[in-house]
Amino acid sequence: MTIFRSLACAALMVTAAPLLQAQAALKSGEQVYRETCMACHGPGLANAPRMGDTKAWAKLIGEGQSVLTAHGWVGVRAMPPKGGRNDLSLEEFARALAWMVRNSGGKWQDPDARMMDSIRAEERKRIEQLKKTGKG
Ligand code: HEC
Repeated sequence: MTIFRSLACAALMVTAAPLLQAQAALKSGEQVYRETCMACHGPGLANAPRMGDTKAWAKLIGEGQSVLTAHGWVGVRAMPPKGGRNDLSLEEFARALAWMVRNSGGKWQDPDARMMDSIRAEERKRIEQLKKTGKG
């Protein structure tokens, strides 16, 4: 179910990408963090890496922006796909993660078009991997 939802969502985003209006309506990373991620990544719920915990984030940041964003988006262990928010776009999710990283010792920026392509490529790889192995 999750896989199909992600695929459908990816297809939607490809269609919507050239629409500048849609781009302008995107939420900021901080806004998405406050609305969604903070509930778990603020207090460290269920072992979520806490925002500001540079030690916990160092290893994750080392995975690279495209890989970590895609894995979080698809879902990994106790991290729910899309942070449990099906109305978020991949770009908004990516912005929220970049914002958490900037506040946790890293320097990631809001993704540009090239980074978004690279995140989508990692998303496809992750989905393939999950299909083959049944786990991440
Ligand atoms: C319902 C709680 C919850 C919400 C909401 C949530 N997360 Fe998480 N997140 C987790 C937990 C728990 C982990 C640790 C997963 C593990 O290692 O088992 C995690 C881990 C992660 C990771 C690391 C994934 C990895 O590869 O180890 C990223 C990236 C992440 N979250 C991003 C986000 C972003 C961005 C948001 C908001 C859009 C968000 N999360 C919202 C619970 C949450």
